[in-house]
Amino acid sequence: MKQVKAYVVSNNRILPDMARPNGRAILGSHLMRLHCPEIAAEAKPGQFVMVRCPDEVGILPRPFSIHRVRNEDIGLFYAVLEGGKGTPWLSRRQQHETLELFGPLGNGFSINSASKNLLLVAGGVGVAPLIFLAQQAVRERCSATLLLGAAATSQLYPRNLLPPKVKLAIATEEGSSGRKGRVTDLIPEFIGEADQVFACGPMAMYKDMHRLRNDLLKDKPTQVSLEMVMGCGRGICYGCTVKTKNGVKEACTDGPVFELDDILWDEIDTSGY
Ligand SMILES: Cc1cc2nc3c(=O)[nH]c(=O)nc-3n(C[C@H](O)[C@H](O)[C@H](O)COP(=O)(O)OP(=O)(O)OC[C@H]3O[C@@H](n4cnc5c(N)ncnc54)[C@H](O)[C@@H]3O)c2cc1C
Ligand code: FES
Repeated sequence: MKQVKAYVVSNNRILPDMARPNGRAILGSHLMRLHCPEIAAEAKPGQFVMVRCPDEVGILPRPFSIHRVRNEDIGLFYAVLEGGKGTPWLSRRQQHETLELFGPLGNGFSINSASKNLLLVAGGVGVAPLIFLAQQAVRERCSATLLLGAAATSQLYPRNLLPPKVKLAIATEEGSSGRKGRVTDLIPEFIGEADQVFACGPMAMYKDMHRLRNDLLKDKPTQVSLEMVMGCGRGICYGCTVKTKNGVKEACTDGPVFELDDILWDEIDTSGY
């Protein structure tokens, strides 16, 4: 883990605002590229960084998945939250400004050596860590199929930013692109060939996947990345505890990636997500 000062190479809004009936509105989603060779050299897909914010934004650093790595740069893909402090502040950072961050943190995803076909399930901004995973899968000569879900077409991660050779299937809740419905509705069509499943999205999506566990996802190793609210990111504050079959774990150090089966889903409060 490194503490670094990284300069902003670019910070562009790539998706528009979106109202959410059951949560905070998103005031655009941004792609930020940061020059930080120390973190880029160590990062694994599924790991995250903590970005320090100035005092007026609050003392807690904010966690963001490492979205992609290119040479000495890392990318972050983040939603700007209505009423939030950290993400609006981040969205205003300009090219050549410097940010303080530390990472890479957490365990990251692991691709089994025998796996050849990976199924990636992304709900909304949850696509963030899965793009880095897709990059690695292609490098390791695995095939990667990305199931991408969003509320509407305008909220879909842009196709032209996907790593080459990644297969794509889309679901939108309003039906304006791809299958009408949730991204988990696409799983039956694609699960057959998958050796391993990786997911990142809202807790409700994981609960759907947990319900598929005894049926479609049976015999399919499935890893999910949990975005718990975090304080320190380093196993000190106990702010990110999660109950698992193997006891209470800290999402920042034991996770954020867990086996779907290990989490005690009935004990997780999804109201805040
Ligand atoms: C491991 C991990 C990876 C993440 N990766 C991404 C990503 O790639 N892209 C992205 O858009 N978001 C990601 N998030 C969520 C992101 O950290 C929050 O949206 C962000 O911290 C909100 O900050 P804010 O100051 O704007 O909101 P505020 O409401 O002002 O935040 C107040 C506090 O609550 C915490 N918080 C609020 N919402 C969340 C949340 N959903 N998850 C975790 N902490 C929260 C903040 O860290 C902060 O400490 C990730 C979260 C975790 C735990
Ligand atoms: S965020 Fe502090 S222990 Fe995990």
